[in-house]
Amino acid sequence: MKVMVVGSGGREHAISWALAKSPRVDTVVCVPGNGGTAYETKCVNIDPAAYSCPPQLGELERYVYIATQEGCAFAVIGPEAPLAAGLADMLEDAGIPAVGPRKQAAQLEASKDAAKQFMKKYGIACAKSESFRDPEQAHKYIDEQGAPIVIKADGLAAGKGVVVAKTAEEAHAAIRDFMEKDTLGGAGATVIIEEYLTGTEISMFAAVCAAPKLTDAARSCITPLMYARDHKRLHDGAQGPNTGGMGAVAPLTDITAQQYDDFIQYIYMPTFAGIVAEGWDYRGFLFFGLMLTKDGPKLLEYNVRLGDPETQALLPLLDSDFAELCEGLAGGKLGDCGVSWKQGFVCAPVAVSGGYPGSYEKGKRISIDNSRYDAEHVKIFIAGAKAADGGRLETSGGRVLSAAAYGTTAQEARSRAYEALEAVSFDGMFYRRDIGLPGAADST
Ligand code: AMP
Ligand code: GLY
Repeated sequence: MKVMVVGSGGREHAISWALAKSPRVDTVVCVPGNGGTAYETKCVNIDPAAYSCPPQLGELERYVYIATQEGCAFAVIGPEAPLAAGLADMLEDAGIPAVGPRKQAAQLEASKDAAKQFMKKYGIACAKSESFRDPEQAHKYIDEQGAPIVIKADGLAAGKGVVVAKTAEEAHAAIRDFMEKDTLGGAGATVIIEEYLTGTEISMFAAVCAAPKLTDAARSCITPLMYARDHKRLHDGAQGPNTGGMGAVAPLTDITAQQYDDFIQYIYMPTFAGIVAEGWDYRGFLFFGLMLTKDGPKLLEYNVRLGDPETQALLPLLDSDFAELCEGLAGGKLGDCGVSWKQGFVCAPVAVSGGYPGSYEKGKRISIDNSRYDAEHVKIFIAGAKAADGGRLETSGGRVLSAAAYGTTAQEARSRAYEALEAVSFDGMFYRRDIGLPGAADST
């Protein structure tokens, strides 16, 4: 069968690679894909802007048109923006089952206010918070609560919508920026002011299948996938500016049985019950961003998709057929799919362009010496790089690639991953050296 993957990052390379490994899949149509999928077995990139479509079609309509013309059996939507814009609804309406929730349920990520309302309605363990549309009220609340305190813009803000304010002045400044100066282009018209939590951060992934029209409630299900950890800061020891993610590891060993039980009881099950009770059509992945506090795990956020770069650490551990899982999810039959994992660990540090997350140059030639690393256990996932003449790769983004290495121990995975990064070079290449070491995790 032919399947479609929407997106162009490292996550989408990993998703495409995992789908292509399935004997059920003949072709993965990557829209638009990247330099990694350009050279990946069974994958073909399609640029929606260049595809021959009726001229009046908008961007999302082009995706639907391509899926239909290419005869794709289902589509996996990688990033949040097309989900929030309703691409899953449009594909479904055109008869193409989608992995990814419909627009209504995608609000769990697209609106932090909607997400918090949902958490409160279903009694999910999370930080105490209030939402504000009036900046005067927001300033007053900050004065009452004091610092540290967390200010979150309601809308999608490409990682720029959260300020962890150490002082009240920083919190007031965030309100001025988000609400009064509108620095986030409308995403900050509503803000959530949240209690500051301390602890260690982790990500937990699940597959959710609740489709009222397709599946009766008794067959709705949620399947836990795996814990993983992103590393958001640029420098070793979780220092420096925030980035889109400097590396990921999976699974984690620093979660106690009690924390896991608490997560299941106070976050995971009530979330699933809430999705079913709302009557949402949610057939896709769900990502819980958690803080392990001394009072148990608290939910920081939902993402209605797989994480980037966590997916690059997660999918190499999957033993069962990813295409079967995606097909089952999209078709409302998750309960029929078995999910099994390899024993062992993946460490996936990310190499970025010099200057990132500030300004950086593009178009740098990437060299990868395949003879200098253990290619049997390492997969290099391409993110911000495009295919260039002569089968080469050139940088085209901030996060360029990650080396996802499997090992029977975390240490073996780590040393294989770094050995692989030593075999990669491009002008200005930079990476953290501590992914997978104690002390590397983001914490507050
Ligand atoms: P979010 O997009 O809500 O996950 O927030 C982005 C980042 O801000 C998180 O990964 C945390 O590092 C930090 N953060 C969010 N909420 C809180 C909180 N209530 N207390 C402390 N840090 C937080
Ligand atoms: N790794 C965090 C995210 O995908 O948003």
